[in-house]
Amino acid sequence: MTRYDELSAARVEELKKQERVRILAIESSCDETAAAVVENGRVILSNAVFTQIPMHALYGGVVPEIASRAHVEKVERMVDEALKEAGMTMDEVDAFAVTYGPGLVGALLCGVTAAKALAFAKQKPLIPVNHIEGHICANFLTSPGLEPPFTCLVVSGGHSHLLQVEDYGQYRLLGCTGDDAAGEAFDKAARVLDIPYPGGPLLDKLADTGNPAALPLPRPKTDGRYDFSFSGLKTAFINAVHNMEQKGVTMEKADLAASFRAAVVGQLVDKTMLAAKELGISKLALAGGVSANGLLRREMQKNCDKRGITLYLPQLKLCGDNAAMIGSAAYFRLMKGEYAFLSLNADPSLRLV
Ligand code: KG4
Ligand code: ZN
Repeated sequence: MTRYDELSAARVEELKKQERVRILAIESSCDETAAAVVENGRVILSNAVFTQIPMHALYGGVVPEIASRAHVEKVERMVDEALKEAGMTMDEVDAFAVTYGPGLVGALLCGVTAAKALAFAKQKPLIPVNHIEGHICANFLTSPGLEPPFTCLVVSGGHSHLLQVEDYGQYRLLGCTGDDAAGEAFDKAARVLDIPYPGGPLLDKLADTGNPAALPLPRPKTDGRYDFSFSGLKTAFINAVHNMEQKGVTMEKADLAASFRAAVVGQLVDKTMLAAKELGISKLALAGGVSANGLLRREMQKNCDKRGITLYLPQLKLCGDNAAMIGSAAYFRLMKGEYAFLSLNADPSLRLV
């Protein structure tokens, strides 16, 4: 143990008893460079996000080298912005938190290195956070009264999980995708409609003006009762669009977008509701980038109302990647006495369960 490690261990014990704990968190797992200050895991004091989307849109997807370079260039500025917005100095920060996986290794390393440097310089504890756990914790920031146990559907660009949140930081997997993530499927479907990266949000908007019954799409089969599958749906959609192009058949883009969105959302809602019925779920939360989807939010609300389930939706600005959600997750880990040494490394394929 180094002197820093010993100091951290002692400081964590003090913080567990402290009334007001303010954590500065850094997020750099993909294409957003973000820093935020969060108090007691529930209150956002600041939330600075620099999105690299325009830098990657040109290439139709995230270019890892460009992402890493931009994180290195922007991370310090985001930390300064987060402190300024919170009206705090670096010395007033109680602990530093960082996403250490899953994500792009080079991108993750930028945040991990910055957080390690700050923690060492200020001799404050360092808390490693799983990005997916961060997405779930966005709900603690939006709904102050939400406490485990509850069920959470995490749908993002890289993940689609249905989880039981048994306690803070304690999860049981109910179902997950066997192939593509929901966000990935949205982005690929958008691409064949010539919608720029990331296609999900724009496809969602376009779908609002289309007919969801215009293009019939298959219902995928899955291994587990609560598992998802989006790859077959995506391929069927891409093939249908290409077939129409070859035959000179035209269909409104809005109708195609609406049909695809309805198929993805239909599957997410049906599987979640099947679990709700069979497992007796009473509290459900959505999380991740795709939880911003308009139809998913509306359909889930309708179905939950019908079954007397309380639905928790993260605020729209907290659905996508941000550091406030990392600061929230870090607080609950810290309260359990969890922290990292300076040997912390990025783990691109880190799992939650
Ligand atoms: O959580 P997130 O920001 O990053 C990951 O951790 O992956 O999720 C990004 C994903 C992208 O695939 C994006 O297209 C999708 O979320 N997304 C949406 C919407 N907003 C973001 N998909 C469908 N409808 C939306 N409104
Ligand atoms: Zn994310």
